[in-house]
Amino acid sequence: METRLSLEFLRVVEQAAIETARTMGQGDRHQADHVAVESMRKVMDTVPMDGTIVIGEGERDEAPMLFIGEKVGAAQREPNAKYPAVDIAVDPLEGTNLCATGAPNAIAVLAASEKGGLLHAPDLYMEKIIVGPSCKGAVELDAPVADNLKAIARRLDRAVEDLVVIVLERPRHEKLIDEIRAAGARIRLIGDGDLSAGISASVLGTGVHAVMGTGGAPEGVLAAAALRCLNGQILARLVVSKPEHLERMEKMGIKDPKRIYDTADLAPGKNIIFACTGVTEGSMLRGVRFFGEGIRTHSLVLTLEQRQVRFIDTVHLYKKPDVKVRFA
Ligand code: FBP
Repeated sequence: METRLSLEFLRVVEQAAIETARTMGQGDRHQADHVAVESMRKVMDTVPMDGTIVIGEGERDEAPMLFIGEKVGAAQREPNAKYPAVDIAVDPLEGTNLCATGAPNAIAVLAASEKGGLLHAPDLYMEKIIVGPSCKGAVELDAPVADNLKAIARRLDRAVEDLVVIVLERPRHEKLIDEIRAAGARIRLIGDGDLSAGISASVLGTGVHAVMGTGGAPEGVLAAAALRCLNGQILARLVVSKPEHLERMEKMGIKDPKRIYDTADLAPGKNIIFACTGVTEGSMLRGVRFFGEGIRTHSLVLTLEQRQVRFIDTVHLYKKPDVKVRFA
């Protein structure tokens, strides 16, 4: 499954990123998201699979496309063909505000697995701590922030003062930010995008050592899919702040609302494919560049069973006779 489908999914995220990048800086996050969803939906139906959206734009009544339970893939048009059954998680535009304002790190994202390989998480908040391969097993979701930072520093053979932690800039994180500051670590506050931040924490050289705080649960599952492939770790717990949240969890088959999920609980699949393309410039992926004669995209494609991490720099050439391609 991974070999055949990973490049197909690359096509899906590349196309979504290209179309969405045209809306960059237009100040309309809903339009940016709409363009991303439409593009992803259209290309997805050309992929040879029998796909089911398990993490998408929400319930059917609030999302006309890519809603949870929606069937996608070429099997829709060719019901007699034998295509692999695949569960799909999408975030067609992670960081709608980032794209609308031209801020860094907006990405188009898709993860896939065999049936049951991605947790069907409700669209609630999720407490998270994300670290890279060297720090796997060193942190705990409920440990004091200072203890987690000391453990990360020890594993990375550096001082706590040399760590960079990414935190979403939200009023709910005031206490967390105070605690990180008191422990002496450095902080990068971000307006949006804890998924791309989580991936960065698992890749050496990005200058990100951990992500802490509460963000979206769908982003948590997508991050877990990427972290399985990159050997990183996410620990997470759904946030219940209203009684209706418990009902939504129950509806999605979640029995223990207080459960702490580890990476493989969120993305248990044996075959996992993760693909994302930069929309705006980012710390790990370049944004989409339009250069008149063509378009250049930068993507990350991960496969779990094949153990491949591919950074893919694609030049999409228009059909012009003398297009020049630059090395980088
Ligand atoms: P969108 O892609 O829907 O704009 O979400 C971006 C994001 O910042 C996520 O990265 C994060 O998990 C979540 O929103 C945080 O939610 P909130 O903005 O409600 O704090």
